[in-house]
Amino acid sequence: MRLDRFLTGQNIATRKEAKELAKAGLITLNGAVVKDSSVNIDPAADSVAVRGIPVHYREHLYIMLNKPGGVVCATEDKRHRTVLDLLPEPLQRRGLFPAGRLDIDTEGFVLITDDGDFAHKMLSPKCHVPKTYQAVLEHGISGEETERFCSGLILSDGTRCLPAQLSVLREGDAPLVETVLYEGKFHQVKRMFEAVGNRVVSLKRIKIGMLPLDPKLRPGEAREIMHKECLQILGSNSGKK
Ligand code: URA
Repeated sequence: MRLDRFLTGQNIATRKEAKELAKAGLITLNGAVVKDSSVNIDPAADSVAVRGIPVHYREHLYIMLNKPGGVVCATEDKRHRTVLDLLPEPLQRRGLFPAGRLDIDTEGFVLITDDGDFAHKMLSPKCHVPKTYQAVLEHGISGEETERFCSGLILSDGTRCLPAQLSVLREGDAPLVETVLYEGKFHQVKRMFEAVGNRVVSLKRIKIGMLPLDPKLRPGEAREIMHKECLQILGSNSGKK
């Protein structure tokens, strides 16, 4: 890979900046100054430093975003801001996309990455990565409805859902429930509550796999997810496709 492409990909410098840094003698490759930013390097084996600071190569980036309402899970959109528009400069990189979609009005944990394999594992129903949501409902939920949720209910169009989990966190005027799904059909949580005669008033994803949404992230804020946390997402499915 060309040195300037490497630096662009790691968000260290633009191609033009890389050229200038190299000309000024501020880039080293395996300890020796390189004046030409177009040289080829092996990112996994060579060590590059800019202004004396080592550049730690990361092949892929994994980001946790606390999505606010009004933002779409897409890479581009003519009318609305996308989850990529919310990323601060140091987290921007070519090839990023949201792994899975939350509706425009749904809030909470969105994983953004440039690793297609990881996204596939996280989203494939075969891998059973649980997604946990909290929903404020229009009405309370009965034991019989909970039972139907847990045994795999059938949506109004005949689609059968995998068994899910449901627990009531708050009763009363604005009942709050927590549900865990092992698949991600279109508008699934909303349609599941509709199927039992209820309505979701607001919805937030609070966990993917065993990784909870970081409570320090305010709506619209994002941070990088570390390797250990990626394993928490995939859990025992890390090796499966
Ligand atoms: N289920 C829904 O209905 N909407 C979402 O955004 C996510 C899951």
